[in-house]
Amino acid sequence: MNMLTRLEKTLYRLEAQHACLHWAFEQIAERDGIVFEIGLGLGRTFNHMRHHLGEREIYAFERVINAYPDCMPDDEHLILGEIVETLPAASARFAGQVLLGHSDVGSFDKDNNRMMAGLISKHLPPALAPGAIVMSDLPLAMPGCTALALPPGAREDRYYLYRNDGI
Ligand SMILES: C[S@@+](CC[C@H](N)C(=O)[O-])C[C@H]1O[C@@H](n2cnc3c(N)ncnc32)[C@H](O)[C@@H]1O
Repeated sequence: MNMLTRLEKTLYRLEAQHACLHWAFEQIAERDGIVFEIGLGLGRTFNHMRHHLGEREIYAFERVINAYPDCMPDDEHLILGEIVETLPAASARFAGQVLLGHSDVGSFDKDNNRMMAGLISKHLPPALAPGAIVMSDLPLAMPGCTALALPPGAREDRYYLYRNDGI
C-alpha cells in the first residue's frame, strides 16, 4: 500500500520545508534581496528564516494572526489581509526585489489549493529578482520560472522549488 498517513504527510512536509529552506539560504547567501513569506501561520518557518537570514528583510503575508508571539514580524513587515489583494500590491511595490519567496498556503481543500496556486503563480512573478528562488507547498506554474529538483532530505512531491530564469 502506497498511501501516506496524515502523520507521514505532516512529517515529510516539515522535513521538506527544512531541507528546502537550508538549500535556499545557501543559494541566496551572496546576493542582496528581500524575502516574501506567504502564509505566516504559526510563524515556524518565519522564525527559522529570521534566525538564519540575519538582517535580511522578510515580509510575511497573513489574513489571521495566529503566530507564536516570538515568531511575529514587526508591524512594518507584516502584510495583513487576503492574498488576492495584498500580493498584487506588494509585488508592484517590491517589483524585482524578492530573492526568496516561500509560499505555504495549502490546506486539505483541493479546490482552494487550486485557486491559491493560481493566485501565487500569477501575482508572485512580478516581485521576483532575476535568479530568485521560490519554494512552495503547492505546485505552481509561474511564467519565466524553471522547476528544480528538491535537495537531499526532501521527498519528491512534498514541496516544490523554482528559479526565476525569465528576466
Ligand atoms: C500552513 S499555514 C502556514 C504555516 C507556516 N509556514 C508556519 O511554519 O507556521 C498557512 C497560512 O496561510 C494563511 N492563508 C491561507 N490562505 C490565505 C489567504 N487567501 N490570504 C491570506 N492568508 C492566507 C492561513 O491563514 C494560514 O495561517
